[in-house]
Parts: sequence; C-alpha cells; structure tokens
Amino acid sequence: MTRTGWLLAGVLLPLTALAAEAPGPGWAFLTPGANAPASAAGGAAQPAAEAGAPAIVVSGKGAAVRACDTCHLPSGLGQPESANLRGLNADYFARQMHDFAAGTRGGPRGEAMAGIAKAMTDDEIKQTAAYYAGLKPLPWTKVVEADRAPKTLVGRNSQRIKLPGNDTEEIGLRIVELAENPEAIRQTAQPAFTAHVPKGARQKGRNIATTGGGKTEACIGCHGDGVMGEDDVPSLAGRSPVYLARQIYSFKNGIRKSDYASVMKDVVAKLTDEDIVSVAAYIGSLDPS
Ligand code: HEC
Ligand code: HEC
Repeated sequence: MTRTGWLLAGVLLPLTALAAEAPGPGWAFLTPGANAPASAAGGAAQPAAEAGAPAIVVSGKGAAVRACDTCHLPSGLGQPESANLRGLNADYFARQMHDFAAGTRGGPRGEAMAGIAKAMTDDEIKQTAAYYAGLKPLPWTKVVEADRAPKTLVGRNSQRIKLPGNDTEEIGLRIVELAENPEAIRQTAQPAFTAHVPKGARQKGRNIATTGGGKTEACIGCHGDGVMGEDDVPSLAGRSPVYLARQIYSFKNGIRKSDYASVMKDVVAKLTDEDIVSVAAYIGSLDPS
C-alpha cells in the first residue's frame, strides 16, 4: 500500500465537505487561464525542453491538450499561477491528473487542467508522470521578508508584474511573488522569482511545519524531513509560496476534495490566514535540491 493509502486507512473521511464560493484571498488564485494568449504563454522563442521529454510535454495533443511546457515552462519549474512539476512523486502526479479529470480537484486554477487531464490516456499520464518525477528539483523562488514590496499588478495573463518605476506598497498579510525578469523565465532554470513576505513569516512558519504550532500536526510528520516528500506524499520544499498557499485554501474549503485531500482538509482546518502565509513562506524558502 502507498503511504497515503495507509494514512487513509486510519482516517474518518468527512463526506460532506461543502466548497465555499470564495475560498481565500484573490491573490492566492492568480493564474493563467486555459485561454491565455500564446505570446505571453511563450509562443515565440522556445528553448529546448529537458532531454527525454515526451512529445505531449513539448507539443501537446490536438486541440484538447496544450503542451505542458506552455504553462509549466520547459524547465517544469512552473509559475506561481500554475505548478512546479519537477521531481514530483509519480504516483502523486498521476493521482492529481485523475482528480482533475474527475472534478475532485477543481477550483479557480484547477479548471485549466480538467480538459487536459480528461483528454489524456492512462499511458500518457504515466509517461509524463515518470518524466517529471525524474527531473531534479531546483531552487526557483527567493523569499524576502519586508514591510513593503514593489508595486505590482496582475496582468492579462494573470501573471503578477512589477509596475514601471520604483514605487512600493505595504505587503500586509500577503505574498507578493513575481519574476524579476518575466521575459527570461522560459529560458532559464536559475532562481527567477522573488516572493516578498511579511517580516517574521518564516520563523512562524517553521514552528508550524516542524511542530504543528499547537494547532495541527507537524507538516514534516507526513511530508518527511525537510518537507522533501515521503513516498506519494509530495515534496513541498522550495515550491512557490503562492502555489502552496492556494492549495492550503483549496483543501480548507473543500475545493480539493478527493479522499486523499480530505487528510489535508483536517490538517489545515484551524490554520488562520497568517498561519497559511507563514507556513507557505517558510516551506517555499527551503532548498529542494
Ligand atoms: C493552460 C495552462 C496549463 C497547461 C497547458 C498545463 N497545465 Fe498543469 N497546471 C496548470 C495550473 C493552473 C495548475 C495549478 C492547479 C491548481 O492550483 O490547483 C496545474 C497543475 C498541474 C499539476 C498538479 C501539480 C501538483 O503539485 O499537485 C499537474 C500534475 C499538472 N498540472 C500536469 C500537467 C501536464 C502533464 C500537462 C501537459 C499534458 C499540463 N499540466 C499542462 C496549468 C496548465
Ligand atoms: C496526516 C498527514 C499529513 C500532514 C500532517 C500534512 N500533510 Fe500535506 N498532504 C498530505 C497528503 C496525503 C497529501 C496529498 C493529497 C492528494 O493526493 O491530493 C498532501 C498534500 C499537500 C499539499 C499539496 C501539494 C501539491 O503539490 O499540490 C500541500 C501544499 C500540503 N500538503 C501542505 C501541508 C502543510 C503546510 C502541512 C503542515 C501544516 C501538511 N501538509 C501536513 C498529508 C499530510
């Protein structure tokens, strides 16, 4: 049995999780839609994908499956609005594809994946899962604590971009995550994103991740030492803080509502917005390599 299989065996599943309409602050959900313009999604100069990439990763399949590279980048490192797929456990990966297809992983960003997952065969899912699982995880996001962050807006591809000039704004209880040089992210695997987070966030988040902070179970209890993953409980280290926070809200609000996700729903039930920002900031700052 997989690790999550064992976990599930001991969990009383809450069967009546009702998804809230507004599952969390809007900033946690900024992502490119399935209809994002090809130019901003990287239509022009495409770097070579990693060696051994299946055709569907690079070229997609017909109208229903856009190339994974489009949104997850040729490196697989992804953007806050999509997901970092590098080094994800293959069983976990395949399970997510089936959840997207079945509608048990929905939500504001999950819908970008639903049609894609439905149009893929089990073999194609297995192949892409094995490919991404074989890519070495890399640091991609620098986490910086401050009171203020550069003034940004969310552009038409749902990407957060810096406004011209040097204006700043209060971070407040947010994660302001953006690429230093958005034009370069498709061509590099060097750290390209900065997440501006509130002062003290990492310290608070470390306490939750390693002890549960008196509110929940320690994240490392299931996600392993350094939250580097354990069997099919995925690694979280060094992944986008905005992505991590969005998933926590999605578990909390029952938008991710598979049997496996219900394990996480209980884990995050008592976490406040401040806890979520903090734990995402801490885990996102860890070196995954
Ligand atoms: C149109 C943009 C787009 C394309 C193309 C795309 N994805 Fe995604 N993908 C997303 C978004 C957005 C998410 C984040 C969903 C969420 O937040 O729940 C995601 C999430 C995922 C996840 C979940 C990761 C995790 O850690 O749980 C997997 C697996 C995945 N995609 C695989 C693929 C594969 C394989 C392909 C190509 C066959 C692909 N995606 C193509 C937008 C895309
Ligand atoms: C009791 C075991 C358990 C504990 C404790 C736990 N997790 Fe999880 N977590 C899981 C399982 C199982 C999954 C996979 C869910 C699925 O397959 O949909 C998961 C998935 C996740 C994901 C989604 C990853 C992705 O790629 O989308 C995030 C984020 C997450 N956990 C964060 C946390 C945080 C933060 C903590 C600590 C506060 C934590 N987890 C503690 C079992 C646990």
